[in-house]
Amino acid sequence: MTHTKPRVFATCDIGDALNILRGKGYDLEVYPSPEAPPKSLIVEKVKSGIDGLITTLRDPIDAEVFAASPGALKVVAQYAVGFDNINRADANRFKIPFTNTADVLTEATAEFAFFLLGALARKLWSAERLTRENRWGYWHPYLPFLGDEVTGKTVAVIGTGRIGLAMIKKCTGFDMNILCFDPAYENRDYIHAIQEMKDLRFQRGISRERTTIRYTSLHEALSSADFISLHVPLLREGESSTPTYHLINETTLRMMKPNAMIVNTARGPIVDENALAKALRENWIAGAALDVYETEPLPANSPLRDPTIADRCRLLPHFASAARITRLSSDPEKGMAGRCIQGLLDVLEGNYSGDITKMPYVVNKEAFAKS
Ligand code: GLV
Ligand code: GLV
Repeated sequence: MTHTKPRVFATCDIGDALNILRGKGYDLEVYPSPEAPPKSLIVEKVKSGIDGLITTLRDPIDAEVFAASPGALKVVAQYAVGFDNINRADANRFKIPFTNTADVLTEATAEFAFFLLGALARKLWSAERLTRENRWGYWHPYLPFLGDEVTGKTVAVIGTGRIGLAMIKKCTGFDMNILCFDPAYENRDYIHAIQEMKDLRFQRGISRERTTIRYTSLHEALSSADFISLHVPLLREGESSTPTYHLINETTLRMMKPNAMIVNTARGPIVDENALAKALRENWIAGAALDVYETEPLPANSPLRDPTIADRCRLLPHFASAARITRLSSDPEKGMAGRCIQGLLDVLEGNYSGDITKMPYVVNKEAFAKS
């Protein structure tokens, strides 16, 4: 019997963690350019009999890819927590497990969402432009503009999975009142613990005012909050009984207060961008900070680029997890790269006695459950 080492194709260089595969003698090929490879190339690599495929959120992975495999493809290891680019039903039909990199980017993404919220509220971009463009003519109590404090304000956290809960923790440090909404999952223990922490901060004189946290309806969260931060996964119609596609649309934007600001670090299509641009132009809301878009990179003709709303619309390049340790650490407990490689190895090396349902980073365990 010839014993060949597994073949792996990575659609992107994910850094030094790939040396773990090289060190094991794997036959590894890495797509050399920084842009995503064409889908046809991914299909071609799968057809050539690779055992493992490392993907990023830029790669559409569906039946066309799975069907190309001559039976060799054993795992798709996604370098991201989100996996809306992978068709789960197709993966299940072809019985191919796919993994993600949850947990390791939770704090990085939540802190970035908080920083965007702060940058938007305190107008950091407009204020720095004054200095750089030499338009800072005087110190004045309210001219040329003021921002808004976040301390003591109300934030709506939409989606209370890992990243939403971490965002709640950051907002608690800033003495914000917190309204939580989740279409599918309520972590009441966590919310209870946060209220206890808030009460202790108040009782011990650390916070000047008592603040609260509770679950509520989407309508109340959107209509009462000063700040809204999105942390739901992207689920399209038919993928879930609680789809999140265009959850933020003309109707839900109109629920928000005119001073409200919204932050999206989740997935672009959760927000109807045309409706958001209109809401900003027509001052239904006060501001938006986005890290993710319906089409990425953001097209040159996007209505979000309208210069008349530039002061109230921050546009970041899908950057929330883009911090060194979070992106590159080879330690599966710390970095997306390490976790991605470990997810791949668990399947290819048959860890957990080869029981895919026990492998912690496999997402679609349901396809492998013994009935
Ligand atoms: C980034 O967007 C991720 O899903 O990891
Ligand atoms: C502001 O700089 C102040 O001293 O109040």
